Amino acid sequence: MFDIHNHILPGVDDGAKTLEVAVEMARMAVADGIVHMVASPHANDVYSYDRTEHEAALEVLRARLKVEGIPLEVTLGCDFHLSFDNVQDALANPARYVIGATPYLLVELSQFSVPPSVADSMLHLGSAGLRPILTHPERNPILQSEPERILRWIRQGVIMQVTASAITGSWGEKSQRVAMWMLEHRAVHVVASDAHDTKRRVPKLSGAQEVVAKIYGNELANMLVTGNPGAIVRGEALPYFPEPLGGLGQ
Ligand SMILES: [Fe+2]
Repeated sequence: MFDIHNHILPGVDDGAKTLEVAVEMARMAVADGIVHMVASPHANDVYSYDRTEHEAALEVLRARLKVEGIPLEVTLGCDFHLSFDNVQDALANPARYVIGATPYLLVELSQFSVPPSVADSMLHLGSAGLRPILTHPERNPILQSEPERILRWIRQGVIMQVTASAITGSWGEKSQRVAMWMLEHRAVHVVASDAHDTKRRVPKLSGAQEVVAKIYGNELANMLVTGNPGAIVRGEALPYFPEPLGGLGQ
């Protein structure tokens, strides 16, 4: 499995505090069946994003994983907050925030306001050659009450990433309900852990994969944790990006 959204890179945001914690997260991920993680540190008002520094931290982590014999590939990405300044910077430097050397960009919305201009920002990013992946819409309080907006954005080409622990219920009833609603509407393309540590927000995907497999079968479950996220880290087109069900005429 491929986990394209997590905070395993140590000491750069509110994720892994130390290299030791990062190594422990890597062990947990491998034990869960994950072969490749995209370390995606925050780029927001609290945590600035320095690609060069993060690349250096990633090299340290990779070297340590090699020494420990932990068979996990790690690529750099970014948990990119959709603010005006961030979007301007990404348009000027499209390669700065993407997953590896691919066009894929993880995009996080504010919890407090989802302005109508979100769709425009996504289109601007698209016109700069970037492919936005919206992270955990199921946890956003505004989208929880207006989930049809998610379907409209998919029709504009936005990829949807849902949190594994939202599917299994650890994020609470509301997030789980919206995650399930999205699955019913064919509006989930990738499941990722958004792991921050080894205790509360952990790097595991298998629980969510099992839930999806039980309801929709193995083919879709594997697509969301292996087929689609694997294509993303390789910079390929998504093998699964269906027309969502419903939400038209709104
Ligand atoms: Fe995140």
